[in-house]
Amino acid sequence: MRLTFPYQTERLGPVKVYGVQHVFELDSGPSLGDTSLSWGTTVAHIPYNTLVRVQRQMAIVVPCRDERLKLLEGVLAAVPHECLVILVSNSQREPVDRYAMEVESVERFCRFNHRSALVVHQRDPGLADAFAAAGYPHILSDGRVADGKGEGMMVGIALASLAGREYVGFVDADNYVPGSVTEYVNAYAADFALARTPYSMVRICWQSKPKVVDGSLFFSRWGRVSETTNRFLNLMLAELTGFGTEAIRTGNAGEHAMSLPLALRLRFASGYAVEPFELIDLFERFGTAQDHPMPEADVMRRGIEIYQVETRNPHFHEDKGDAHIEDMRLAALATIFDSEVCPPRLRDEIREFLKREGVDDPDAALTRGTAVYPPLETVDWESFARLLRDRAVTFAEVAYPDDNRIIDTPPLPLTWNRRTGPAGDSA
Ligand code: GDD
Ligand code: MG
Repeated sequence: MRLTFPYQTERLGPVKVYGVQHVFELDSGPSLGDTSLSWGTTVAHIPYNTLVRVQRQMAIVVPCRDERLKLLEGVLAAVPHECLVILVSNSQREPVDRYAMEVESVERFCRFNHRSALVVHQRDPGLADAFAAAGYPHILSDGRVADGKGEGMMVGIALASLAGREYVGFVDADNYVPGSVTEYVNAYAADFALARTPYSMVRICWQSKPKVVDGSLFFSRWGRVSETTNRFLNLMLAELTGFGTEAIRTGNAGEHAMSLPLALRLRFASGYAVEPFELIDLFERFGTAQDHPMPEADVMRRGIEIYQVETRNPHFHEDKGDAHIEDMRLAALATIFDSEVCPPRLRDEIREFLKREGVDDPDAALTRGTAVYPPLETVDWESFARLLRDRAVTFAEVAYPDDNRIIDTPPLPLTWNRRTGPAGDSA
């Protein structure tokens, strides 16, 4: 892949936010004895073999809640071969067991292509037991892992960590353009190859998001949610640095990836607040002089790099309606509004903005009870793995061509059975 060498930088303490990188070539070929990643200073060439090397260490988490099976299958087919696939599903199990259908698709995908995958249902009580036993009850609600995309992502990070992967990326399951998923995952790998710190993140924005308007296709540049979230995140960053900025272009990036050392140290927010909150967490803990419990010496010394890539493929996903979009926008604004580093002036601006948008009581609209979960680094991984294998009947390690384990822990009976599907599953 050939893309802009990230040269513009916005700094906040140890956090570097790079300017948006553009993709010049989706496939820039192999390395031809050219060891330098950069030509001149403005273009980075990440040879094919370098992408593969990084992807061998990468897990791709697909969070999925009642998406069309055809779309999920397209997404699976697009995840580059070396990546481990992790399906975290919150799909319905009754009256139709959609989860069993998804697992069947994953199993077939792995069998045909000699791939490996981990699958689990987010609401499996055994998964909740594993978190509780591992000293991480925070994510539970009524004895199960709480609903929500953020929570699904955290389950995915936990599984990526158990599988010993160095990087974890996310791709939504409701994508109509499988080729775009390949581009996202290649962009993740390209920037991880460029990264100069163990604590890095890659966030995707799109050149266009096509919509059908009056019967024809319109390639809109920005979604309504992103536009608002980015504006207020940039205002917040500007308040913290003292310089106006437009650096943040990926406040809502559902398609993004992190190095495991960073993923395990971040706090996450529930539901759709998760992506903007990742940035806010970095601002809160590393970007200000506030007395926060966390600044770890190693993170401070090596720094955190945030890459942003504008991909070539259009982002074409399921339309979930205006109410859903509005809810997501409020979730993002509320995390900015609630942040301890949000200056009162910015809170007023958010209120004003919502009033202009026709919201009568902005404070009430911004009160959403978003949960913020502590970093996953405190999880006792051995207990987690043991309980997961013992109790989570929907959990399975699908590994082809051999029945090898993906998670390396003391031997326990395999929960996956090729003929009957996940144990305890009557489908
Ligand atoms: N495991 C799990 N659990 N997955 C979920 C849940 C859940 O509770 N809720 C939603 N998902 C899955 C969906 O099935 C989909 O694959 C993905 O998470 C994204 O959810 P969508 O409902 O499709 O969100 P969106 O398309 O409106 O928004 C996406 O893009 C935004 C940026 O434009 C999301 O990725 C947002 O998080 C992102 O901010
Ligand atoms: Mg979607």
